[in-house]
Amino acid sequence: MNHFELQGGELACEGVPLSRIAEAVGTPVYVYSTATLERHFTVLRDALTDQGLKDPLIAFAVKANSNVAVLRTLAALGAGADVVSEGEVRRALAAGVPPERIVFSGVGKTEPEVAFALEAGVAEINVESEPELHLVNRVAQQMGRRAAVAIRVNPDVSAGGHAKISTGKADNKFGVSFSEAERLYATASNLAGVRPVGVACHIGSQITELAPMEAAFSKMRGLVERLRAEGMGLERLDLGGGLGVPYFNQPAPPSPADYAAMIGRVTKGLDIQLAFEPGRVIAANAGVLVSRVIHIHERPEGRRFLVLDAAMNDLIRPAMYDAYHDIRPLAPRPGEPLAYDVVGPICETGDTFTRDRLLPPLQAGDLVAFMTAGAYGAAMASEYNSRPLVPEVLVKGDQFAVVRPRPSYDDMLERERAAPWQA
Ligand code: LLP
Repeated sequence: MNHFELQGGELACEGVPLSRIAEAVGTPVYVYSTATLERHFTVLRDALTDQGLKDPLIAFAVKANSNVAVLRTLAALGAGADVVSEGEVRRALAAGVPPERIVFSGVGKTEPEVAFALEAGVAEINVESEPELHLVNRVAQQMGRRAAVAIRVNPDVSAGGHAKISTGKADNKFGVSFSEAERLYATASNLAGVRPVGVACHIGSQITELAPMEAAFSKMRGLVERLRAEGMGLERLDLGGGLGVPYFNQPAPPSPADYAAMIGRVTKGLDIQLAFEPGRVIAANAGVLVSRVIHIHERPEGRRFLVLDAAMNDLIRPAMYDAYHDIRPLAPRPGEPLAYDVVGPICETGDTFTRDRLLPPLQAGDLVAFMTAGAYGAAMASEYNSRPLVPEVLVKGDQFAVVRPRPSYDDMLERERAAPWQA
């Protein structure tokens, strides 16, 4: 469920018509609903708590939506943060996420990043390889610390979905095999700079079936039991994120309740704290990208291009993953739907959001919303073609606030300078 609905013939976010935001802030613009973010987080948390899980750590995957106001909304509900860079650690801290609820993932953390995270006091560093284990050990020792680490396992399961977002197959770059994990865990327990506290996995994103997750998590349970049988201590099992959302063209994903029931089944009696790293399931349907129609170019030969002021630099998912986003006019006009090729102004054929999409009749100046754009939308935006970075707005009830303004052209140019010999 989300809070983007037609009110008096106009698409609104909670109590604010999206057209009002478009007028005030300009387009393109991302708009997020506080109520939807809160609802998605609490539904997932309650489903997991209903399974009797003890104090699960729900660490929102900051990469999905890294706006500090969004993170602040979730932090206020007790969310932790799954981060993959120093920048993301800083964002989580700025949003008020307590360091003991931050987990640090990623295959290539640098020494300064690890040092920063240890200084901040993050809960756990998810170590993805043997060289990384030694890097963390070295940095922690130099700082006179002992770093809590989890070993990230690659469970070698196929999670379905787009190849570019599958992470849990043996030929993906993430994590180590089960046998390596056992060896590294033992190694870690003998190193002075680290303290192994658990194991972690994350098998992919936009997963729409429980079976691959259940297979992976059962294997993870087996690993916990084997390590414990060898006398090792484990406090936490991190099961990653990955739960999919409906994008309207894909099989309906499992509900948070079904997901939680599966977790309850697989981890029954294990007596361990569970951690989760959900991103998309919390943020995707809590955000839309609002854009204005610049014009409609109808070719006599037949194609009808809907040219928008949003482009692939603002929302790259269709270009990168052939992703489907529902497109809704903010004030739908009556009339038979027409087939449009929906494109942006960027000078690349890839700047095509969709082809032959049936939409209500549209005119130049109309506003449309790309739905399900709250995850991996603004977070992946760029200034390609020197288009100012797309702004972000947060709505709560009948209020809205610009939580990342659109930079001016001067802001954009001030970041660059002539080389000394050009002065
Ligand atoms: N944990 C780790 C270690 C991850 O790598 C990811 C996502 C997550 C958690 C969160 O996964 P989620 O719950 O959001 O599925 N840009 C792509 C998605 C890339 C996902 C990368 N890793 C897209 O737009 O579909």
